[in-house]
Amino acid sequence: MTQTYRILKPGSQNPESARQQFLRDVEQGLSQTPKSIPSQYFYDETGSKLFEQIMDLPEYYLTDAEYEILERNHRRLAELVNHSAFNLVELGAGDGRKTRVLLEHLHSEKIDFKYIPIDISEGAMTSLQEEVAACCSDLEMLGVVGEYFQGLNWVEKHVGGPSLVLFLGSNIGNFRPSKAKIFLRRLRQVLRPGDFVLMGFDLKKDTRRLNAAYNDKQGITARFNLNLLARINRELAGEFDLDNWEFYGWYNPLSGAVESSLLSRKRQCVRIGACGKVFEFDAWEAIHTEYSFKYSEAEIEKMATTAGFTVAEHYHAKNQTFVDSLWSIPL
Ligand code: AVI
Repeated sequence: MTQTYRILKPGSQNPESARQQFLRDVEQGLSQTPKSIPSQYFYDETGSKLFEQIMDLPEYYLTDAEYEILERNHRRLAELVNHSAFNLVELGAGDGRKTRVLLEHLHSEKIDFKYIPIDISEGAMTSLQEEVAACCSDLEMLGVVGEYFQGLNWVEKHVGGPSLVLFLGSNIGNFRPSKAKIFLRRLRQVLRPGDFVLMGFDLKKDTRRLNAAYNDKQGITARFNLNLLARINRELAGEFDLDNWEFYGWYNPLSGAVESSLLSRKRQCVRIGACGKVFEFDAWEAIHTEYSFKYSEAEIEKMATTAGFTVAEHYHAKNQTFVDSLWSIPL
């Protein structure tokens, strides 16, 4: 078997400048009202492993639902792209567990393609590539480590020929609507007629089911959120006492999102050594950590057309919890 995978880091931040960026974002986020920390910082090594555990939780139906969609529809997707050699670009690939169904099918059918996963976590990228290399020998892979916009810049410069872009797992739901609009416009700019996008959306549903998915009995989602504070302690000499904090994440039907935050159990001051500042928190004050937007089909169609895409097909989970929406680019 030949070695067919490589990892690129186009943003090529050295660890020190990445730490400085983290510090700037934390300092800025904790100086605002309401306070917040960007959700991209969930995914250090510990956070990426906790997210893998979340995907295995019985309450977190999203992953199984999308896996089932891809299992039932991978042949149809393969037909769409199987005209000439193409690129399978995956934004936010994570551990790639759902994509593997599609990869294995394309590979076993000897379809000519290159796999280009993009993810912010270098650790996740390394294990993803090792696992895919083990199941799809000789598949050409090029992993790009970076956040979504860096990934798109790289694709624009370096990827030629027809592409199918995957953006699965309801990752789009972690953008506020205004940011989602900017992201989709940028994605549209990078693609050409003949390309496709497959985008995973978690659908609006019974709020009890949504709330259960983000308030799992084992408390993994709580640990995933608290890891943000632990990460500040580890990397920025923060002095958060995790016992003084608790996770709060509930669906707000008015915004259409599960809104997650960390609540300060008491009035407290916390020093962050790396910037030499002390931040004050009132009792039960929140630090916003994440939005997880949920969509109706009408909203999905509007998002697609506003950004200049055409909705080609919708693949629903059998239990109607989730949809993978296939978009094409009009000529
Ligand atoms: C990655 N993203 C789509 C997940 C979500 O559902 O918003 C992250 C997550 N947060 C808590 N549980 C899972």
